[in-house]
Amino acid sequence: MNMTCAIDENQLEQQLIAYRRQLHEHPELSSEEFETTAAIKGWLTEAQIKTVDLPLKTGTVAVIHGKKSGPRIALRTDIDALPIQEKTGLPFASKVPGKMHACGHDFHMASILGAARLLKAREDDIEGTIKIIFQPAEENGLGAQRVIKTGFLDDVEAFFGMHNMPNLPTGTIGIKPGAMMAGVDHFSIEITGKGTHAAIPENGIDPVVVASHVITALQTIVSRNISSLNNAVISVARLEAGNTWNVIPDKAVLEGTVRTFQEEVRTKIPGRMKQMVESVAHAFGAKGKLKLTHQGPPVQNDETMSVWAAESAKQSGLKVIRPVPSSIGEDFAHYLEKAPGVFVFMGVSGNSDLHHPDLIIDENAILPSARFFANLAIDVLKKMKSR
Ligand code: NI
Repeated sequence: MNMTCAIDENQLEQQLIAYRRQLHEHPELSSEEFETTAAIKGWLTEAQIKTVDLPLKTGTVAVIHGKKSGPRIALRTDIDALPIQEKTGLPFASKVPGKMHACGHDFHMASILGAARLLKAREDDIEGTIKIIFQPAEENGLGAQRVIKTGFLDDVEAFFGMHNMPNLPTGTIGIKPGAMMAGVDHFSIEITGKGTHAAIPENGIDPVVVASHVITALQTIVSRNISSLNNAVISVARLEAGNTWNVIPDKAVLEGTVRTFQEEVRTKIPGRMKQMVESVAHAFGAKGKLKLTHQGPPVQNDETMSVWAAESAKQSGLKVIRPVPSSIGEDFAHYLEKAPGVFVFMGVSGNSDLHHPDLIIDENAILPSARFFANLAIDVLKKMKSR
């Protein structure tokens, strides 16, 4: 018998499912999570868990102090939803037209609220302090830095977070050391040529043709300049030029993203892109200009802490698998720039992909996920203290 018996887990599970459904019915977009924040604060207060007043418009941080002193760690959930019209037909489907928790952040919130409740009931076992981050604006990549800027996490020595994975069955958890999710760069390219009548191309410099060559050239960076043992993605996702059929425009604009998992790959790509954009354009007599912005590093899991997380997962009854890293970005990476930590993939037996209007995830995964994060927090504090 341990202290978790202080909480009736069946009752807790019902409550977490109810939280999740309420959140699912009321999705709010990045930086607009006002009702979500109010609901979370209300539930935490009901459970006598303290939240801290921080200069944040949305989102909050709760704190649980153990009975014994020790290191400080953080658990993090994101809280925002997406501009997607829900098509699940669930009885608790989104009541807000055009908005949906299609990334399962409602699942993350319910799980972390559950972990908070379990931890509160086990304060005697906690050797240190646990800060629980309810982070706004993950989908636009701005939220983590906003919370970090408050300074309230400056003393945190390890960070833990998750994303649900529809393609992993409930009861499994993906944990691996090293790269887990991709670093994200955004780029835009401007090709300046010379406009002319479409029937007399020899009088101009066609930026559409130049753009086509630039796009093709960019494809060779991953295939010819990056080792086959590393990974990268370069996608041109937008191409805009001209506004009618018989005029060659003077400009073409391309926009896209680069995804990488290793710092040496990430830093190599911009130089190659710049060279190709400028010299391919030059070859046609046009001008090419690349603007590349680094949005976030890859999520890199700590080696030792990944082993610890796997141990806690097994003790929590989860089956640990080694996941394939995801080329999606995740602003959790910004916490890991401050201190080591682990980001896990939680199996939820989903019926389709993340960000899909049909996505339904298995609510049976909520309690095991809550249990895992509670056990992990307690175990990690002990292990860090005795290290
Ligand atoms: Ni997400």
